[in-house]
Amino acid sequence: MNIIIGSDHAGFGLKEACRRHLSETSNHRVVDAGTFDCASIDYPRVAHQVAQAVANGEYERGILICGTGIGMSMVANRYRKVRAALCHELYTVRMARMHNDANVLAMGGRVIGEGIALEMVDLFLETPFEGGRHALRVSQFD
Ligand code: RB5
Repeated sequence: MNIIIGSDHAGFGLKEACRRHLSETSNHRVVDAGTFDCASIDYPRVAHQVAQAVANGEYERGILICGTGIGMSMVANRYRKVRAALCHELYTVRMARMHNDANVLAMGGRVIGEGIALEMVDLFLETPFEGGRHALRVSQFD
């Protein structure tokens, strides 16, 4: 899968961990949209870049990390073809894929630890959409 990942300064450490994890344990192609250090930046810039790339079909999935994940998910969900899910644990990640066909996972680098985040990323990438009645519901978003 082609994946694009991005964070602000508050999500930088967790973004680096996710990127390393995916390159060491999977065959996914992961492109890093930044940020590339801990210097303070405005999260909307990165959220727009990742969401736009998912919306235009360049990448199948996006991962966005800021301090809480809230700002990133708010910006990403302004794009019609983006379904960003802000998650803090595994159950909602699984449901976001199975029922909502989420194509962007937003996480809070100041909210969750690395161990759970890496499991969430794996689950986000491996869980299929159930389709059926859920596809009908997703088609009603717009
Ligand atoms: C940065 O301080 C923080 O506001 C940002 O990372 C994010 O949590 C916004 O939603």
